[in-house]
Amino acid sequence: MLKDRRVACIGAGNMTEAIVAGLLHAGHLPPARIMASDIRTGRLDDIRTAYGIAVTGTNQEAAAWADVILLAVEPQVLDEVLREIAPVVGGAKLVVSVAAGYPIARVRRLLPGAGRIVRTMPNTPSAIREGITAMAWVEGLNDDDVRTARALFEPIGKVVEVSERALDAVTGLSGSGPAYVYVMIEALADGGVKMGLPRETAQLLAAQTVAGAARMVIESREHPGALKDRVASPGGTTIAGLHELERGRLRATLMSAVEAAAARSTELGLAT
Ligand SMILES: NC(=O)c1ccc[n+]([C@@H]2O[C@H](COP(=O)([O-])OP(=O)(O)OC[C@H]3O[C@@H](n4cnc5c(N)ncnc54)[C@H](OP(=O)(O)O)[C@@H]3O)[C@@H](O)[C@H]2O)c1
Repeated sequence: MLKDRRVACIGAGNMTEAIVAGLLHAGHLPPARIMASDIRTGRLDDIRTAYGIAVTGTNQEAAAWADVILLAVEPQVLDEVLREIAPVVGGAKLVVSVAAGYPIARVRRLLPGAGRIVRTMPNTPSAIREGITAMAWVEGLNDDDVRTARALFEPIGKVVEVSERALDAVTGLSGSGPAYVYVMIEALADGGVKMGLPRETAQLLAAQTVAGAARMVIESREHPGALKDRVASPGGTTIAGLHELERGRLRATLMSAVEAAAARSTELGLAT
């Protein structure tokens, strides 16, 4: 269980802040059980002041202190960070990485003492507790480890479990997806402005329509096609709009966007 553990966040950036804020907000851990390390002392001061957690400028000190180690630095510096903490990471510690495109095998190679490694892919709406995180592991995890890893991310959104191979597809969909949706919201708002709405009103109408429709899909558990059919009455306005979307190949374009981003993720992963 997470509540009995000490969590060290290596790298005190945006992702660590989202997770720390989530853990404290959910009451999963008291601040005394969380420590963050970073090379930026100003950042550490800010995060200590905001959340009351312990901080250190030494990654190894944080890793030695913790039962659960969250790797939250950029992938480019992770090799160096893993070499630094390797002497204090034994098999009793659970290692959870959020580093995009950084394979479990590489963590294992650089942390030979670590037996339990989880790789995750959160997305940016985690910052407002509306994210989704995909979690993968290869072997060596027990049910308690899985629950503990889930408990880190559940306060900042939803969690799904996938195979490590599927993380490129996850990156193409939920990792890059917020950007696709921002473009859609902007375009819908542009349409509203074209039809005479004030920009601010059009943007709110567009954003809340996307948020509301997404919530309808999640909460009703209905197929999005069934929900769409219900909005489109015969000879009505919605079917006229839908026809334009089909003409513009919106579905094929979105599928291609996920495919292209997933392929790029695979390419970048091969390069590490
Ligand atoms: N933000 C997201 O929504 C998101 C989503 C999915 C995955 N991720 C993954 O999460 C990880 C962190 O992302 P982030 O957005 O939180 O990045 P970030 O805000 O840049 O935070 C990383 C922090 O680590 C510090 N750092 C650099 N080298 C270090 C070292 N050797 N030891 C300790 N700290 C060091 C950085 O300092 P400097 O700024 O001086 O380098 C920075 O303060 C990345 O691997 C990213 O792929 C993030």
